[in-house]
Amino acid sequence: MLIINGTVVTAEGVIASDVRIRGEKIAELAAGLSPLPGEEVIDASGLLVLPGGVDVHTHMDLLVGTARAADSFLTGSIAAACGGTTTIVDHMAFGPVGCSLQHQLDAYHVLADGKAVIDYGFHGVVGHVDDNVLAEMDQLVRQGVTSLKLYLTYDQRLDDESILRVLARARELGMMICVHCENHAIVSWLRESVMAEGHTQARCHASSRPDYAEAEAVGRMIALSRTVGGAPLYLVHTSAAASLLAADVAWGPDAQDAQSERDAQSESAVGDPHQKSPTPLPVFLETCPQYLTLDAAHYDDPGDEGLKYLMSPPLRHERDREALWEACLDGRIDVIGTDHCPFFFTEKQARGARDFRLCPNGIPGVELRLALMHSEGVVKRDMSLSRFVALTSTLPARRFGLYPQKGTIAVGSDADIVLFDAGREVEVTHELLHEHVDYTPWEGWHVTGWPIMTFSRGVAIMKAGEFIGREGQGRYLHRALPDLER
Ligand code: URP
Ligand code: ZN
Repeated sequence: MLIINGTVVTAEGVIASDVRIRGEKIAELAAGLSPLPGEEVIDASGLLVLPGGVDVHTHMDLLVGTARAADSFLTGSIAAACGGTTTIVDHMAFGPVGCSLQHQLDAYHVLADGKAVIDYGFHGVVGHVDDNVLAEMDQLVRQGVTSLKLYLTYDQRLDDESILRVLARARELGMMICVHCENHAIVSWLRESVMAEGHTQARCHASSRPDYAEAEAVGRMIALSRTVGGAPLYLVHTSAAASLLAADVAWGPDAQDAQSERDAQSESAVGDPHQKSPTPLPVFLETCPQYLTLDAAHYDDPGDEGLKYLMSPPLRHERDREALWEACLDGRIDVIGTDHCPFFFTEKQARGARDFRLCPNGIPGVELRLALMHSEGVVKRDMSLSRFVALTSTLPARRFGLYPQKGTIAVGSDADIVLFDAGREVEVTHELLHEHVDYTPWEGWHVTGWPIMTFSRGVAIMKAGEFIGREGQGRYLHRALPDLER
């Protein structure tokens, strides 16, 4: 197949180039390529040719308590494909209390294998720490699961001592530790307080999960990483300006001075367990389109509508959004994930209308990531096309051991390609989307830029908004270790 006349965008630059695909791979990149006999030609005149999106934060089929996320690996990956995403790395749900790491990996292969329509990997999840779990981390790496998530809130959260053990092992193995940062004690205290005062509405979800609960957890994780000499950290769904400030210590000049001083001291201390840690620390931040585009005023929408936006951490305020955009542009934020975790509004209402604590947390988003980031970032905030691709494809692929197989358009890479019409204006409606859920938080939004064709390993799987791929076409991705270079 030959894609001609398009504008190829990578994290390195924007060039007019044709793209030859042979089998599953990109075979040639050059302007003015002539079709070979029998070669299918696709004219991409006026279109951007992007590397397929890489969304490293989804929760397909997530089972939390008795609520199951509405999108399976089949329906969720169809929605991803229709939105221009060709790779997901999914966060596993916690298994039964005390289960092994392998337990959930086995369960997730059953959920995804033969169902997903795009390529997929998994992040492991750790809900308790003992010698067996630490030994199993290596086993996960050998199966291509080179990242592991831990939580600072929820029932299977880890305490600081356990986290240090995980981080120390992760540093030895080169594994990325993903963290949900919210201080559990603060959140529980505030939830009890608002309930005691008889406040049960959606807005109390936000007021009981303040920005400082997130920022405290961010600062603590960085301190814990430093303690073990700099374990790779990936902080998911950063939502608050305060968290960006807390994260500055990981790479700011002051932090580097302070760290050099400490390193010098520890070098002179015989047998000092405080190992020399790299500066800046290998700490990477993710945010999501919802934190860049929506705000907490939605929790006051009429009736139960506020429940549509119930997620953790909650939506914040304009100053947070602006700070997050700045960090996307200047490089402090590395990756845009979606935290795609949809529940039907009817289910959110049935469970949460009288007590926000019972409403399942999470919103849909996997299908709109590229369109929102292009429209709000490139069109409205002058983000370069290369930065847009870096945030949505290249950097997530690098941080999670998928690059250069995924995340770029280069000879030898998988032919995961999106033809994107940068000028197309679309009004977002729930009916337009393929996510298996009864609403979208972006209903009525106008976006500029829309994916019109998606290829996964050389096969067209979406054309003009219609899924044309095949169930089970996606392959499990045995991931390499993360690339920590900035
Ligand atoms: O509200 C959210 N984010 N739901 C998904 C699970 C989690 O906490 O990441
Ligand atoms: Zn999540």
